[in-house]
Amino acid sequence: MKKSGLKREDIFLETKIWPSFYENEDAVEKTLERLDTDYIDLLFIHQPAGNYIAGYRLMEKAYKEGKVKAIGLSNFNREQIQEILDTCEVAPAILQTEVHPYSQEKELKEFLDKNKIVIQAWYPLGHGDRNLIEEGVFAKLAEKYGKTNAQIILRWHVQPGNTFRGCWHGSKTEDKREGGLCGAVCRDTAGIYLYQLLFLCAAAPDCLLLDSGHGDRLSGIGFCKGCHP
Ligand SMILES: NC(=O)c1ccc[n+]([C@@H]2O[C@H](COP(=O)([O-])OP(=O)(O)OC[C@H]3O[C@@H](n4cnc5c(N)ncnc54)[C@H](OP(=O)(O)O)[C@@H]3O)[C@@H](O)[C@H]2O)c1
Repeated sequence: MKKSGLKREDIFLETKIWPSFYENEDAVEKTLERLDTDYIDLLFIHQPAGNYIAGYRLMEKAYKEGKVKAIGLSNFNREQIQEILDTCEVAPAILQTEVHPYSQEKELKEFLDKNKIVIQAWYPLGHGDRNLIEEGVFAKLAEKYGKTNAQIILRWHVQPGNTFRGCWHGSKTEDKREGGLCGAVCRDTAGIYLYQLLFLCAAAPDCLLLDSGHGDRLSGIGFCKGCHP
């Protein structure tokens, strides 16, 4: 951040605390030290394992001290979010979880809407699943709007007010002429604003049919302190 020459307030810094250290009293301070910053814009618990309530308390304390501007949860299910809501003083602003058109999480979204929690999708393009990206409904819409299929899917995420975790490490198939590692990815992400998909009348029924009701996360892998979902 310092090398970029940008002002700190012009950067949105989001990071996570991991189960193996979120029970340590100094977990947030150590994170601030490591990032060489006075505050974090959005701090998540990466996954619910061990005493995640203790981890949440640390984030609340840091929030009250101005060291964290917003609190998020990642990979929590509805029951675990409710447990946090029942006991917290500062509500989570955001849930990062797997969402894409093959795993739409409609009920979870309704629950989050009621509780004013925004979704941030991980695997927004299904981790680059070509079947998903090349689905006919996206190809048709891409042609209609002069966008790429990926832009249509990213627009599907943001138009109802959700967000997604960007794939800034880039694509193996990116257009290198755009420069640097994330040429195609950044260009496609920038191109998802300033237009409205007529989703409600045109694509929603087709798109709803793609939902298999489960993503990778629900394939039976439990959360432990060391494993990444
Ligand atoms: N909180 C968690 O537990 C959790 C879990 C998993 C992931 N994440 C995070 O979520 C973020 C997103 O994950 P992800 O990058 O795997 O998800 P993704 O955006 O669904 O998939 C990225 C892949 O999509 C393809 N792609 C990217 N841009 C494209 C474009 N414009 N057109 C066509 N294809 C494109 C690329 O595949 P090719 O290289 O094959 O072209 C790229 O590798 C990452 O930062 C990851 O760390 C968080």
